Amino acid sequence: LPEFAAVRHAVPMLSIKTETDTGPSGAIHFDIRVRRALGLGEDAPALEYAAELKFDGLAISLRYEAGILARAATRGDGETGEDVTQNVRTIHRIPLRLRGAAIPELLEVRGEVFMSRPDFEHYNARQRERNKPALVNPRNGAAGSIRQLDPKISAERPLSFYAYGLGEVSGWPLPDSHGGVLDALEKFGIPVCEHRTVTLGADGLVAFHARILALRDALPFDIDGVVYKVNDLAQAASLGFVSRAPRFAIAHKFPAEEMITEVLG
Ligand code: IVH
Repeated sequence: LPEFAAVRHAVPMLSIKTETDTGPSGAIHFDIRVRRALGLGEDAPALEYAAELKFDGLAISLRYEAGILARAATRGDGETGEDVTQNVRTIHRIPLRLRGAAIPELLEVRGEVFMSRPDFEHYNARQRERNKPALVNPRNGAAGSIRQLDPKISAERPLSFYAYGLGEVSGWPLPDSHGGVLDALEKFGIPVCEHRTVTLGADGLVAFHARILALRDALPFDIDGVVYKVNDLAQAASLGFVSRAPRFAIAHKFPAEEMITEVLG
């Protein structure tokens, strides 16, 4: 929208490839590709991976300068997004100031803004009571709220946020693993989802995929699948990119949910 100022991302906001083979072989093939790209032989020990949820919302970059939330931007085309600071400031779960000691000079936190299912149901029930339009689904609810011109309207929409990575950073000793980054963000008071793990090899990934699939319906928010990332950041960086997607990460989908519909007429 022309009303939102353009924000150029110093570190592009990339997307990751999706593995559509929803069975264990999806994880096994990712591990094989990564090991091959790192030049690891068959006898080399299992690789360490960070595994987390694939949140279904809107990607946001939060820029903290000396610990203060200075700017929030959407992903846009990955290079340039929209300045949505005023709206993001109304999300209670996103701290306006980082907590703790050794606050970085500059820290860009990347993550997903989303609407939980109970918040979505509650919001829609209230809208119906007032004869106002309901939201179509939580994902559209989150995306639409962030791109509202009036921050008062965004403030009425109950949004949540989980961090999954970093953008531009300076004046901070970067942890050496992705798991270490998420733990550090949590200590700064940034919301990080508890359903994450650091695990070994394809077996660890397959077990995580199965564990989260079993948990999926009990989660209070929608997910698209899980995400695997090479945990060691130096190793991850050495893997490079294929057609603008990093080789170090992959999204592993779940089988589609199937239900029976009875056609009445
Ligand atoms: S990592 C360089 N981790 O999925 C890697 N993305 O195609 C950058 N997403 O629009 C992304 N959950 O907003 C990453 N745990 C997660 C994620 C995640 C959801 C979204 C992200 C992006 C898309 C990636």
